Amino acid sequence: MLTSIKSNKLQYESQKVGMMYFRVAIVLFGAQLLMGLIAAIQFIYPDFLYGIFDFSVARMVHINALVVWMLYAMIGSVYIMLPDETGQEAVGIGLGKLGFWVLTAAVAVVVLVYIFIQIGSGSETTIWLINEGREYIEAPRWADIGIVVVVLIFYYNVFFTYIKGEKTGIMTVMVANLLALAGLYLAGMFFTDNISIDQYWWWWVIHLWVEATWEVFVGTLAAYGLLKIIDAKREIVEMWLWIEVLMLFGSGILGLGHHYFWIGTPEYWWEIGALFSALEPVPLVAMFVHVLYDWGKEQGAKGDKPAINNGPAMAWIVTNAFGNFLGAGIWGFFHTLPQVNIYTHGSQFTAAHGHLAFFGAYATILIGMMYFGVQKAYGLERLKATFNSKMAIFLITFGVLGMTVALTIAGYEQVLVERAELGGGWDAFFTAQALPWMKQAMGWRLVMGVVTFVGFVYLLLDLLTIAKKQQN
Ligand code: HEM
Ligand code: HEM
Ligand SMILES: [Fe+2]
Repeated sequence: MLTSIKSNKLQYESQKVGMMYFRVAIVLFGAQLLMGLIAAIQFIYPDFLYGIFDFSVARMVHINALVVWMLYAMIGSVYIMLPDETGQEAVGIGLGKLGFWVLTAAVAVVVLVYIFIQIGSGSETTIWLINEGREYIEAPRWADIGIVVVVLIFYYNVFFTYIKGEKTGIMTVMVANLLALAGLYLAGMFFTDNISIDQYWWWWVIHLWVEATWEVFVGTLAAYGLLKIIDAKREIVEMWLWIEVLMLFGSGILGLGHHYFWIGTPEYWWEIGALFSALEPVPLVAMFVHVLYDWGKEQGAKGDKPAINNGPAMAWIVTNAFGNFLGAGIWGFFHTLPQVNIYTHGSQFTAAHGHLAFFGAYATILIGMMYFGVQKAYGLERLKATFNSKMAIFLITFGVLGMTVALTIAGYEQVLVERAELGGGWDAFFTAQALPWMKQAMGWRLVMGVVTFVGFVYLLLDLLTIAKKQQN
């Protein structure tokens, strides 16, 4: 992937910018996993790096790196599909590149500040300069404003290229959805010292990203991927996409209520949250069926052309269909009714769902897009899976599933002992934390985390070498 930029096989500058985003994304993914490993070790040995690199910081960098690498990979994917779908070079390439460098410099500074200033009291100054203190989107306000500027540049490129070029269904959904996705970020930018109000708006970003706009984004990526990789029919892919969009927004927007059960919002959210969030798995089933249906239907080789022209990308897209359904649909549905959530809220069960959903719904397909980018960058008609590709997908998926199982067991124990038996509260929490079921689960989470990381090493190696090996 590194040399791919130099190989210059990419027809469009826009796609070269896409590859720049992918390279940073994969580095941040690695950093995310390392931080996860540190935090997982600290669960078992609380003294590990205490005072040098505290759990609070490792955890924070873990989940912020997660969000940032995914946003990078999303922007990268858009820059790659933009010229293909519109038939146009992006309108503002120079600006696009500038935006990339500004964003990357800002991310580097923010992370350095997190590492150098780990503790201290919060004030108006720290909100501006150090940390805004909102989980997943902790960047200080100066960086927030920078992000908004960079995103405006990005959106300018997408929107005006779309206006100038061909207007496919996929691009129309992309352009509209990106506006919502970017706009929602603003809801996470203003601080109030009333925790209920703060959480109320913060969920607009987190929930309406991952359960509405990001899901629609993935729908468009899957549609585009199927077109390119198995030569699926545009009419069918786009028809599915419109249905998915309708269902995702129909359930996801009011599904927001499942975060309003216990934060001081009115009680009518119980019913609204229960009903609409319970419907959320439906579009995820549709997305699952869509990918498998198209895959099955288009599978036969067409003449002497192979059915699948990018083995690893297709494998990751299919993993996405399963993972999205399992992690978001099933693991999400488990705890989405208030009757259940009152016991599971904020337990390791939530973390189990968080891992499988983010991985299944987003990491998978974004990795698939990276393989797709590599194929394009080297101008290969076909990219075949290598030993490394197979090890990567197997170990990463197995590792994340393993972590999910461990965390689910830990969550179950918390529900039974800490919540049901001991009624919740401070002492109940620590009693439950000390039981063998919890300790063993945390041990297995670490083991499976190491498995995931080894898979990542294979992935990195593969992305760097796969296309070079297959060049003739
Ligand atoms: C890909 C989509 C999804 C992702 C990435 C995702 C991710 C997450 C994450 C990370 C959290 C924990 C947030 C925190 O730090 O407090 C969470 C909470 C939650 N998610 Fe999801 N989720 C997704 C889809 C769903 C769906 C479809 C449902 C329901 C059917 C659902 C139900 C819930 C519920 C009820 C909570 C609150 C848990 C609690 O009270 O502790 N999620 N989700
Ligand atoms: C090397 C593998 C990994 C390890 C060891 C690891 C470990 C951890 C740890 C220790 C936490 C803090 C949990 C807590 O506060 O109780 C955490 C949180 C989290 N991790 Fe990971 N993680 C890994 C990979 C991943 C991956 C691949 C994803 C998603 C693609 C992910 C997404 C998350 C999310 C969303 C949270 C917040 C969950 C919540 O608050 O409910 N992690 N992880
Ligand atoms: Fe949600």
